[in-house]
Amino acid sequence: MSTAPAIPPAETILVRRARPGDAAAFARVMGHPEVFANLMQLPLPTEEAWRQPLAEPDNANSGDLRLVAEVGGRVVGTSGLHPVARLRRRHAAMLGISVEPGAQGKGVGRALMQAMCDFADGWGQLLRLELTVFTDNHRAIRLYEAFGFRIEGTHRAYALRAGVYEDVHAMARLHPNPPGVAWPTN
Ligand SMILES: CC(C)(COP(=O)(O)OP(=O)(O)OC[C@H]1O[C@@H](n2cnc3c(N)ncnc32)[C@H](O)[C@@H]1OP(=O)(O)O)[C@@H](O)C(=O)NCCC(=O)NCCS
Repeated sequence: MSTAPAIPPAETILVRRARPGDAAAFARVMGHPEVFANLMQLPLPTEEAWRQPLAEPDNANSGDLRLVAEVGGRVVGTSGLHPVARLRRRHAAMLGISVEPGAQGKGVGRALMQAMCDFADGWGQLLRLELTVFTDNHRAIRLYEAFGFRIEGTHRAYALRAGVYEDVHAMARLHPNPPGVAWPTN
């Protein structure tokens, strides 16, 4: 069984776009009970199931952003930003993030959030980022609040987690400085 490496300082965390060859890493990171329990994923994810979403033909331009964070050449975190398809909601995207247990609390989540917010704010045509988070996931809530997310409400008995229907907060972040037009000045 492989173990996560010691995590060096934040500047050595490499964030890059996910590739089809990362399917095994997605399954490994999300296969930890502490990780999938806090997502809306099911237990026992497989490399095969992750191949298709990572191999979408227009992955580079669809606006669906999937990133990984690498430390020392090993993928230790993953994230996704998924724009809503309906025309009147195309300014919104759903966000998800996961870091493997041995690498948590060392800045990997922060590095992935920064990359996703930079993409959304500067390139993604996105005004509103949305997510749900279990109300007892204090680390994630604190990370989201640091990036401008606010709790908008609480869904009761929203999702089954290890045999219990648990509450989640709905959180969202609006673009802090929405894009304008570069009008000529004369
Ligand atoms: C939530 C998660 C993505 C955060 O990633 P991470 O790499 O652990 O986070 P970071 O190290 O970048 O730290 C982010 C913030 O959380 C804070 N934090 C760390 N440990 C904490 C703890 N035990 N309790 C509360 N906050 C904590 C850090 O202080 C940091 O804030 P700061 O920089 O202002 O100090 C990660 O823990 C994870 O993948 N958890 C399991 C899956 C999950 O919950 N995903 C989110 C579902 S909505």
